[in-house]
Amino acid sequence: MAADASRQLSGRHLKGRPQMTLSVGNASSARIVGIGTALGERVLTNEDLAEMVDTSDEWIIERTGIKQRNIGGTTAGLAARAGTAAMEVAGVDPSSIDMLILATTTPDRCVPASSSRVQEALGLDCGAMDVNAACSGFVYSLVAGHGMIAMGHERVLVIGAEVLSRITDWTDRATCILFADGSGAAVLERSEQGSDLLGWHVSSDGSMEEQLYCEHDGYIQMAGQAVFKKAVLVMEESARQSMKQAGLTADDIDVVVPHQANVRIVETACKRLRIPYEKAAMVIERTGNTSSASIPLALDDAVRSGRINEGDNVLLVGFGAGMTSASALLRWSGAPARAS
Ligand code: COA
Repeated sequence: MAADASRQLSGRHLKGRPQMTLSVGNASSARIVGIGTALGERVLTNEDLAEMVDTSDEWIIERTGIKQRNIGGTTAGLAARAGTAAMEVAGVDPSSIDMLILATTTPDRCVPASSSRVQEALGLDCGAMDVNAACSGFVYSLVAGHGMIAMGHERVLVIGAEVLSRITDWTDRATCILFADGSGAAVLERSEQGSDLLGWHVSSDGSMEEQLYCEHDGYIQMAGQAVFKKAVLVMEESARQSMKQAGLTADDIDVVVPHQANVRIVETACKRLRIPYEKAAMVIERTGNTSSASIPLALDDAVRSGRINEGDNVLLVGFGAGMTSASALLRWSGAPARAS
């Protein structure tokens, strides 16, 4: 039996085979019960950038959809603010959190993980780890959090936090117009009423490494057009996998919460999925690309503005350096949200 099981598992990793997608079933009985967010301290507008590099407000809006972004702070500081807001709005005490998962590409130090600093700042008495899956990190962590609750935890705090301004070359107009700082958090809680996670999918294609990377002590290096083209394809594929696992179609999706990388990427991915762009929750105009914070920032905004309501089918989908991609199809639990 054990040998059969191990063969099946390794078979899923064979080159050319589909990425592993495990069944959710009834084991993962967790739900999001609160969302919280935080943004970098200082607003940086397109006009500000036009004084720093050879660009313009018109060019940035037309090519990306971004008008302004926030920068400043530390990853742990932003994560702690978002985590506090999420726990407060969920009405849970820090002492009741069993695990902290912090998705980030910009830890404050190489070692230790920034999650340990956040655990200390929030007064949590639990395990803590960082996850680096680039801009897909929040969804990866959300899926992992559901898994930990399936294995016995009661509550898991999942946070995406970034200080991308630290690894952005502010003299490079091809990248500095995109990136920003922020954080978003979700409290996951064991639920007797079943899981909010109807389907999920994660993937990685390491052959894309050279298209988007950052060396130690370096700045983000990006082949913009190559990333754009591949991003559209992997978002579509990941979304399809989650919908298939959930037994839902594009018509069943009430709201898409995409990684906020570029309005045109989201428009193109929605078109390929036959989901009207109007169903996409977008905050990129105000936030820029905050990597692993971008999906929870858009989720927070959609919940607070009443775009997402209890019972809605909500598709989180993103991509990032790696190139990674991830999606999670949630039946929205009705959890409240708060910006700090
Ligand atoms: N302002 C003005 N002109 C700019 C500019 C800027 N900030 N950045 C680049 N340009 C110029 C280029 O030099 C080029 O000029 P040329 O035609 O004279 O050579 C022209 O604008 C077009 O550049 P191009 O790179 O083809 O633009 P684009 O339409 O591909 O848009 C991105 C550039 C970066 C906005 C776009 O490729 C993109 O969003 N890619 C995905 C990036 C991404 O999502 N990264 C994060 C992943 S998590």
